[in-house]
Amino acid sequence: MKSNILIIGGNGIVGKTIDRILRKRNPHYNIFIGSRKQGGSKNDLVIDVTKPQTFQAIVEKKIDIVILSVNDIDENVLRFVIENQIDYIDITKPTPDLMKACDFAETQKINSRIVFSSGWMGGIVSGLVNSVSDSIKNIRAVDLFVYYSVNDLAGESSAHFMAENVAKPFVNYKNNQPVSVKHFLDAEAFNFSFGIGKRQAYNFDVPDLYILNRIENIPNVSVKMTYNSKFITWLLGAFQKVRLYNILSIKERKMIFGSRGNGDQSVFEIVIKSDNQHKKISLQSLKGQAELTALSAVLHTEQLSNNHYENKVYFSHQLYKGSALIESLKNYKSINIKITE
Ligand SMILES: NC(=O)c1ccc[n+]([C@@H]2O[C@H](COP(=O)([O-])OP(=O)(O)OC[C@H]3O[C@@H](n4cnc5c(N)ncnc54)[C@H](OP(=O)(O)O)[C@@H]3O)[C@@H](O)[C@H]2O)c1
Repeated sequence: MKSNILIIGGNGIVGKTIDRILRKRNPHYNIFIGSRKQGGSKNDLVIDVTKPQTFQAIVEKKIDIVILSVNDIDENVLRFVIENQIDYIDITKPTPDLMKACDFAETQKINSRIVFSSGWMGGIVSGLVNSVSDSIKNIRAVDLFVYYSVNDLAGESSAHFMAENVAKPFVNYKNNQPVSVKHFLDAEAFNFSFGIGKRQAYNFDVPDLYILNRIENIPNVSVKMTYNSKFITWLLGAFQKVRLYNILSIKERKMIFGSRGNGDQSVFEIVIKSDNQHKKISLQSLKGQAELTALSAVLHTEQLSNNHYENKVYFSHQLYKGSALIESLKNYKSINIKITE
């Protein structure tokens, strides 16, 4: 069993939550926290992802699994773990960075388990699709609808992606062809569960688009999101239409997307269409997105720690067989899941 676990970005909102859930479920794990600041305990390591010279502690402490919970745009940590044959779980990469990291990993000799877990909520969406489908090969379309509350807790790092990418086009997939779209356009009405009701949802880029089409070959994949405030959702689309994001600085965009809430529910729904069956998975995390993302990272860590997998690159859903993932989620107190056929 691999039990020396390091969380880089472990003092952040998601990192702290990973630490709490990991400790509670696995008291025997030896958990280390990586941060730019000197901490008070021997398990606090000074690690700055922009300074690879700080990574030596990872080898010295014989870390088995690195969980990356802070953006590492130059892929310094990924390079280091590949070179030093250390297992790795990454929940941080937006689609363009994930594609770049996958391309890089493909050129390397991999002697550990490299797990990309950057899909929505730590890769839980593709995991759920996998859990409820007899075979992913028979799926014709996956549509993800996200309800995001601006009152939910989100760290500074989480605001970076939208600030940097909101003005850039991205792709969703129709009949296996990439279709260029922009955030917050192309309204689609969707009736959300858990008492939320009918909302207009808009284009939104998450790595699940890439993972479900390019890795799992599902021909049609789209992602739409709505904010808890209908006015904010409409306003963000209006800003895109008049190209306001193109003239705002990154700092100004961070002010728009850096939500400052104290916590709220997080909900998403996945509509899965196969030739002869339609299924909808509705998931509510009463403790919000940080809790669900952290739980997801914890479940992947437990899988890696407790099972034998060959050394190679994985997307986190590929670590699970059958309904194991959905069962773990159902057993978690603050999560509700409904499946409709
Ligand atoms: N996949 C998903 O569904 C999902 C969902 C939510 C969040 N995320 C991702 O998870 C990551 C963390 O989000 P968060 O909300 O927890 O952000 P956060 O609260 O800003 O936490 C990041 C932490 O990383 C540390 N840090 C900052 N720069 C660093 C550096 N150069 N080297 C090492 N540590 C550094 C900071 O702590 P110190 O000051 O102590 O260094 C900070 O507390 C982000 O990448 C976010 O995009 C993914």
